[in-house]
Amino acid sequence: MTASTDKLVIFDTTLRDGEQSPGVTLNAEEKIEIAKQLSRLGVDVLEAGFPIASLGDFEAVNRIAREVGPLMIGREKIGHPMTICGLARSTPDDIKRCAEAIAPAPRKRIHVFLATSDLHLKYKLKINREECIQRAVAAVTLARTFVDDVEFSPEDAGRSDPDFLCQVLGNVIEAGATTLNIPDTVGYNMPEEYGNLIKYLIENTPGSERVIFSTHCHNDLGLATANTLAGISHGARQVEVTINGIGERAGNTSMEEIVMAIHTHPNYFPVHHTINTTLIYRTSQMVSTLSGMMVQANKAIVGRNAFLHESGIHQDGVLKNRQTYEIITPETVGVTNINLVLGKHSGRNAFRERCKELGFIDMTEADFQKGFENFKTLCDKKKNINDADILAILSNQIGASSNNPYYTLVSTQVVAGANTTSMASVKLYNVKEDKESSDAAVGVNGPIDAIFEAIQRIIGRRFLLTKFDISAVGEGNDALGKAEIQVKADSSLHHHQQDNRLSKAAFTSSVADVDIITAATKAYLSAINKQIAWENELAKGTARSINEERKVDI
Ligand code: KIV
Ligand code: ZN
Repeated sequence: MTASTDKLVIFDTTLRDGEQSPGVTLNAEEKIEIAKQLSRLGVDVLEAGFPIASLGDFEAVNRIAREVGPLMIGREKIGHPMTICGLARSTPDDIKRCAEAIAPAPRKRIHVFLATSDLHLKYKLKINREECIQRAVAAVTLARTFVDDVEFSPEDAGRSDPDFLCQVLGNVIEAGATTLNIPDTVGYNMPEEYGNLIKYLIENTPGSERVIFSTHCHNDLGLATANTLAGISHGARQVEVTINGIGERAGNTSMEEIVMAIHTHPNYFPVHHTINTTLIYRTSQMVSTLSGMMVQANKAIVGRNAFLHESGIHQDGVLKNRQTYEIITPETVGVTNINLVLGKHSGRNAFRERCKELGFIDMTEADFQKGFENFKTLCDKKKNINDADILAILSNQIGASSNNPYYTLVSTQVVAGANTTSMASVKLYNVKEDKESSDAAVGVNGPIDAIFEAIQRIIGRRFLLTKFDISAVGEGNDALGKAEIQVKADSSLHHHQQDNRLSKAAFTSSVADVDIITAATKAYLSAINKQIAWENELAKGTARSINEERKVDI
């Protein structure tokens, strides 16, 4: 970073566009944990959600505005708290609801959007261009009565007529918009095309010198990062990104890729940012754990293989000089190589230091104590505790503390083997009724199937298992196993009016353990707890919306 470069505003939409990923459902506690981590990471603007979508969404945005909005954790260098932003369609009800949700934040932004492509105007909104301009201006004018910081997005800008865009954007600048975001909503543009569009809009929109232009790219052609970088090269000074690139369909631009591209090419991009790169890996792991969206092994920057050198020639080169095959050191993004550092004789201080080095810079004493206990328990099962294990322990903890369980696991016993029917007995604790219950079942598909059957018998209802992945955390024979599970209510068994919502909602959880059967059991139970909590909210009328519905809303 040099004094002569421009500030690049990092706008994170993991909790809004990212949460629109198929299968991702985050509860309010999980969103708050992620919001705090994004604040530590150095994000400028956090899009916390879409408040009109449901009461649950409203409450999550409102709690983030109240509980995370004022925090300064890890932001000494930045000197101010993160801006909390809410999304709204260009209607008075949406905008008022959004303003109410973000009101408690010291720094707040309303993000209004309206489609501008002829395709969307004709078929989706059924309005003409004049009406589009009128609606956009009315929306921005209303939003400005609540906040000074208003962002406007012409949805499907990537397929809109550039001259019409200049007209819309010129009008919303007059109405008080401060940031103009240019979404390639369907991931259609080529990098040069998108970069040129940004340049054209900056050069031809009346009043463009008074606002910040922003990128918002989707990854349908795998070009979201390239398009965003082209946008920066052509004058955009805000980027809308998500951690791990999660988002609608093929996802959004991934924050870690943009930040590290700029870091690696400081002379190519004339911008600086406030992201603490050493917290990138930890943040990626947290989002993956809580969202249940696994990071693919070869994902740039944060994938398991991103810093592994397999071929002999590469290994030899790296041993002689790391720069031969490494353009980024793993430490820069918080991937440390100091494995085998801790074991059963390691004390509290060593564990605390390691947690800090891994990015847990401001754990509460209670969380630290719990983490240390879990660490000691793991030491009894595993000799050498590496960074991946510590990350898994602490991530399990966040997952557990962000849920109010209805059932917890007391014990399981399984009989399994080749050419034999698996059998399992399970004991659960029913938290609300304060009682333990047991049952047993056989599993046609092995021991985990038997356990899941027994759990369903105890709870007295069926769940559909819609995702089940097992992966190793770290390396070696004694690596922890991580299970990622997604469940849905088995709506074929329910015949009441909420069937439609029930059949769409899916709940994900992931847990790591030395024993993969225990990991799978705990993850299954945790996903079921989320499902039950959501159904209870639904019954009370406070449930957050689910992905399918929100897509209709947008
Ligand atoms: O992709 C898109 O167009 C959006 C808008 C709501 C900004 O996410
Ligand atoms: Zn989007």
